[in-house]
Amino acid sequence: MTKVRLGIIGIGGMGGNHARYVQAGAVPRCDLTAVCDIVPEYMDRFEGVEKFEDSRKLIRSGCVDAVLIATPHYGHTTIGIDALKQGLHVLVEKPISVHKADCERLIAAHKGKRQVFAAMFNMRTNPIYRKAKQLLENNELGELVRVNFIITSWFRTEFYYASGGWRATWSGEGGGVLLNQCPHQLDLLQWLCGMPAKVQSTIRLGARHKIEVEDEVTAMLTYPNGASGVFVTSTGEAPGTNRFEICGERGKLLIEDGTLHFTRNEIPATEFSRISDQKFGRPPKWDITFPGVSNGGDHKDITSNFVNAILDDEPLLAPACDGIHSVELGNAMLLSGLTGKPVDIPLNGTVFERRLKQLIRTSKFKKKTTRRRSKEDLRQSFGHA
Ligand SMILES: NC(=O)c1ccc[n+]([C@@H]2O[C@H](COP(=O)([O-])OP(=O)(O)OC[C@H]3O[C@@H](n4cnc5c(N)ncnc54)[C@H](O)[C@@H]3O)[C@@H](O)[C@H]2O)c1
Repeated sequence: MTKVRLGIIGIGGMGGNHARYVQAGAVPRCDLTAVCDIVPEYMDRFEGVEKFEDSRKLIRSGCVDAVLIATPHYGHTTIGIDALKQGLHVLVEKPISVHKADCERLIAAHKGKRQVFAAMFNMRTNPIYRKAKQLLENNELGELVRVNFIITSWFRTEFYYASGGWRATWSGEGGGVLLNQCPHQLDLLQWLCGMPAKVQSTIRLGARHKIEVEDEVTAMLTYPNGASGVFVTSTGEAPGTNRFEICGERGKLLIEDGTLHFTRNEIPATEFSRISDQKFGRPPKWDITFPGVSNGGDHKDITSNFVNAILDDEPLLAPACDGIHSVELGNAMLLSGLTGKPVDIPLNGTVFERRLKQLIRTSKFKKKTTRRRSKEDLRQSFGHA
């Protein structure tokens, strides 16, 4: 194979964006050969590609080697399993599934190395986060002491929530800010700092919007070595903050305003404390600043990496199996907030799934939707994140 024939399933806001840059030639050696949406009008603007209203037909059509799934979240699992079982390469939007048990079902359908299975964690392509990853992997920070991620710059309007019947409902989306906006930051958190051992959180359902799912979360994390963490998010705060601070024995990383600041202790803090003969002394330090592009990341780079992995065995930047961790973190935060009790990681996926089904069964929420379509470009939503 010298070119990948790609099909995109779900041609809404994000799927439409993926289609645009692929058709503009931004992904070398990749042709968009098919699109699929349950709303046929969304496919009207496409010419020279096969069109399907049923993903099962696209998957079995023989006109694609790979699919990019950009449907509402529950479809990631069902459509993903179908495509993997039919032997296609799969790139799935975040979150890879709604809950941990579904992630396990999806990952179990992956047939192994020859089949490429990736997730759209585009923020991993951002040079700032890649630099942070490199510094942490080289142990420049030493042992983790504390982490703090405030990501309240995901402001969303009532119009946004009304723009899709599936949005912000237990049955259509499966959650709120933890599942829609934050998979990126939850992925960065686990990618850079590993998984905590315990989560205790406070959540508010529909605090700032007329929705039934969570739009405000404050979670306290305890890591296996005793280090502590705080994760704060909201879609109702403006102007909002995006500040990620990771403190270790040997210094501190601060990512804010598209810049990474690295402050390095010349002597680890605990060692300085032990050997110093000063009462108020501090370890000597030096500072470095890495200017970045933005706090976002490039979708087309993940898609190019996916294509290169199929054609040249290039290692994946975001293997889909990694996606279970951000889902597990979000599920644990939600469950802790709902029950008022701490939740251990690994999370019991069956317990969470049961709870989610109960929320769906007992929901009395009447969702209001609008058929008005916004003229905004979806890319406007990325810059603030
Ligand atoms: N990576 C990112 O930066 C990013 C940004 C925004 C959205 N997303 C993700 O993209 C996905 C879609 O979000 P969106 O904002 O584009 O939603 P959207 O509602 O605009 O688009 C979803 C599309 O899927 C179609 N659809 C629904 N069920 C389908 C099915 N069974 N088969 C085929 N098509 C179906 C809908 O008709 C709609 O056109 C979500 O998983 C979301 O989390 C990712």
